[in-house]
Amino acid sequence: MSGFYVEKMGNSLEKVAQNSATLDLLAKGDGTEILFQVIEANKIFQIVSLERNSTMEFFYILSGEMIWMKEDGEQTKLEAGDYFYTHYFCGKEYLKTLSKAEILYVSTRPIFRHLSNKMNNLMEMVKSVESKDYYTHSHGQRVQDYARRIAEHLEIAGDRLENLLYAALFHDIGKIRLSDAIIAGNNKPTDEEWDQIRQHPIYGAEIVSNSFLRNIAPIIMQHHERLDGSGYPHGLKGSEILLEARIIAVIDAFDAMTTDRTYRKSKSVNEAIIELKDLAGTEFDERVVDIFAKILKEEGIYSTTEA
Ligand SMILES: [Fe+2]
Ligand SMILES: [Fe+2]
Repeated sequence: MSGFYVEKMGNSLEKVAQNSATLDLLAKGDGTEILFQVIEANKIFQIVSLERNSTMEFFYILSGEMIWMKEDGEQTKLEAGDYFYTHYFCGKEYLKTLSKAEILYVSTRPIFRHLSNKMNNLMEMVKSVESKDYYTHSHGQRVQDYARRIAEHLEIAGDRLENLLYAALFHDIGKIRLSDAIIAGNNKPTDEEWDQIRQHPIYGAEIVSNSFLRNIAPIIMQHHERLDGSGYPHGLKGSEILLEARIIAVIDAFDAMTTDRTYRKSKSVNEAIIELKDLAGTEFDERVVDIFAKILKEEGIYSTTEA
């Protein structure tokens, strides 16, 4: 995301409630997160870091009072306008609120994903979809692993990489709204079932739009689009399709081709790559197919002399 953003008080990307505190993710970008934390009165909280790394965590007290309880027993009172931060810090420090405290919290490493309820829900949904289809266990994870490697070759980094990887993991999350029989994929889908299946990118985009991962919605929406316009749900063409969606499309198609179904036998890795290469330039991004074939070759699971 790039641009100038203005939000009104109370708006945030996501809010989580902890025992005696709430945390609002106000903004995130390039790994940095800006959070607003409210901690109830008379609560001890700790600032912990398990390893000494370059992460900076900065806390600015907007309102309220607290004390820093040092190891030697000494106490320092902190109030609105005071601040504390960690950098190359390994250890624990304890603070105690004397009154309800509001803190602006900046972290140069993403931490919110570990606290986000919505992230947990999305993970549960993916697990649920994958558990209903005997053949696609860890499909999202596999697509994510290869997406990471293709991204390295294309020098995709920062926010863009993070969005690509989440989109890869959650690309089929919309299948949660399909019937169990369709997800299980034991029979060749009927025409009506195909109509349903074509909706899953739309459902997926809707589901993530309600989370702090809303930026990945367009990628999920486009993961079944094809360069020649033969894909779904919108029949987009060429440059209308995001590079991130083209990357996922190639890996996803490969994973589908090499997966057995009760109504059809899977293709071998070589056969699948040959098919992807045949379709490169018409349906799939040529550069992405080339890089993917190279990666599989490096892994030793694709063995023809070409590529
Ligand atoms: Fe899909
Ligand atoms: Fe998929």
